[in-house]
Amino acid sequence: MADPKPKPSKIRYLSGVQSNGRLHLGNYFRAIRNHIQLQDQGECFYFIANYHSITTLQDAEALRKFTFMAAADYLALGLDPTKALLFRQSDVPEVTELAWLLSTVTGMGLMERAHSYKDKVAKGLSPTLGLFFYPALMAADILIYQSDRVPVGQDQIQHIEMCRDMAGYFNNTFKKDVFKLPEGILSEVPKVVGLTGGKMSKSDEASVIPIFGEPAEIKKKVMNIVTDSKGVAEPKDPDQNVIYLLYKLVAKPEELAQMEKGFRQGGMGYGDAKKLLLAKLEEVFGGAVREKRKKMDEKPDLVEDVLLNGARKARKAAAETMEMVYEATGIPSSRIKKGILNSEF
Ligand code: TRP
Repeated sequence: MADPKPKPSKIRYLSGVQSNGRLHLGNYFRAIRNHIQLQDQGECFYFIANYHSITTLQDAEALRKFTFMAAADYLALGLDPTKALLFRQSDVPEVTELAWLLSTVTGMGLMERAHSYKDKVAKGLSPTLGLFFYPALMAADILIYQSDRVPVGQDQIQHIEMCRDMAGYFNNTFKKDVFKLPEGILSEVPKVVGLTGGKMSKSDEASVIPIFGEPAEIKKKVMNIVTDSKGVAEPKDPDQNVIYLLYKLVAKPEELAQMEKGFRQGGMGYGDAKKLLLAKLEEVFGGAVREKRKKMDEKPDLVEDVLLNGARKARKAAAETMEMVYEATGIPSSRIKKGILNSEF
């Protein structure tokens, strides 16, 4: 007989979000929305990837600020800390230790094939060891919690493949099944178009609509979207149109159909389409959601409590894996390390 299907509640979902800038609609539709929905379907571990962020943001004040903001954004958008863990990556520092151990079984060839490293360097980031090592740390993030599924956007799928490879190399090298091989799950919206026509990305400020930007800023950004010079009455191709593509993410099907018809047949001007988009953004991310987000700024301690609570539980799960890792590799266990620290320092 086939194995009974595991109960949904037993499935462990894990994901991380970087805190190197304000979270934007791309982060929301590719990842955050999905993460929040999953909190009712399994055990969820979500963290703010500040160790990863420091590969591109080397400014203490800014890193602290964006880390807080990312956590506050998740909570305002509906992450419920009684259902899902939310924590800072660096509050479980064992991930860096595991990343090192994984690096010892990982071939250079695998690392050199990473698209995201090549893309970042091509964009002008300095090719540091940290940037190169990024996928090993990400693999450690996933493996240390024995994650089953990793919900991410398209750009992270290769990293998850690399993680599976590293898990396999480790298990083979040390002849123990220490790590589960996780599966990546792609969100329904794998890519979100940016205001400048490419992908919406933190590395290009002009491309982003920050989820919790001030209304005046969002208005300015939307009204400034560059379009061609077709008049109101002329037919237009909605699929080539940033306004329509963003509207598609927030509008109801009948609202979307109306904009599409107006574009295809003529009658829908870019100015009116921008206003519709703005109103819809305000409906989804303004009002009560924005109020909730403001409360987080007023009570940062509440956010900190959520993060510390999450970290305590996550660290416990990590410690269980690390004991197996120590056993498999011959590195002394954390119990022994703690004894040394407690008695001699
Ligand atoms: N690299 C991911 C991103 O930029 C963030 C991340 C870090 C992550 N560690 C992870 C995502 C582990 C999933 C699992 O989006």
